[in-house]
Amino acid sequence: MFSFQLLSTLSSVALLVSAAPAFPGHAFPAFPKKGACKCDTSAANMNLPANQTQLVTPTTAPLYVALGVGIQNYTCSSTTLKYTSTGAVASLFDISCLDKTPAFKTVSNAAFTAWSTSKGSANTIGSKVGAANLLGFHYFVPAASGTGISPKWDFTSTGKNAGKADAFVIGAKTGGISAPAPANPSVDVDWLGLKNATGTLASKIYRVDTVNGQPPSSCVAGSADITVKYTAKYFLY
Ligand SMILES: *[C@@H]1O[C@H](CO)[C@@H](O)[C@H](O)[C@H]1NC(C)=O
Ligand SMILES: *[C@@H]1O[C@H](CO)[C@@H](O)[C@H](O)[C@H]1NC(C)=O
Ligand SMILES: *[C@@H]1O[C@H](CO)[C@@H](O)[C@H](O)[C@H]1NC(C)=O
Repeated sequence: MFSFQLLSTLSSVALLVSAAPAFPGHAFPAFPKKGACKCDTSAANMNLPANQTQLVTPTTAPLYVALGVGIQNYTCSSTTLKYTSTGAVASLFDISCLDKTPAFKTVSNAAFTAWSTSKGSANTIGSKVGAANLLGFHYFVPAASGTGISPKWDFTSTGKNAGKADAFVIGAKTGGISAPAPANPSVDVDWLGLKNATGTLASKIYRVDTVNGQPPSSCVAGSADITVKYTAKYFLY
């Protein structure tokens, strides 16, 4: 897959080369400063809306800023006649390169528009929204306690961490925060703040800017399990 990013990198290089002689001793004006350069997460910010009072942005810079494209799984509880979550599966794309561009703000929505009508793999969606680099995957694993499942962010098989066996984090079951999505909580899955239980990839994981993913408000006893497409931003600190 020939990526949008590679193309834009190539064109920046070409511009730099041709621009350099015209600006002697002067950096190409549009080229970001060191420390704030493309694909650097050090200045990326969650920018939580003021009406969202439960999650608190960490004071350190994020290590990874990812677009998640995937599904939420649900099963129908025959006692409450509501769908309950049974996990999720998502592909995670690097969006640090979009940070500080207008596209960053709306990338969850743009990705959901592409994903909602896609018949293909979630892996193909990033390249449609300027985020072709697949960082890894989000899915669930049996909890260490032996009861239930725990969320995992696994960057061991793709992207810059491919081959690093410890490039994953499993979220802790306790101490997490779940907050209704500020704009459309019945449609968009909750925003989350979780701590690490296992793995060295990150010590805090946030899911924000969610689009879709909530199940229907009720179900009929005996209904089959369902999957609901969603997108979100994940910030790993
Ligand atoms: C969610 O559903 C998908 C599709 O049916 C499945 O591949 C995946 O294993 C499920 N994951 C969990 C945690 O239930
Ligand atoms: C909270 O703020 C966001 C962003 O400004 C807005 O879209 C949303 O509608 C607000 N939600 C409520 C409940 O006021
Ligand atoms: C979570 O990550 C921090 C920082 O890397 C580490 O000190 C701590 O031991 C981790 N917690 C667990 C439960 O592994």
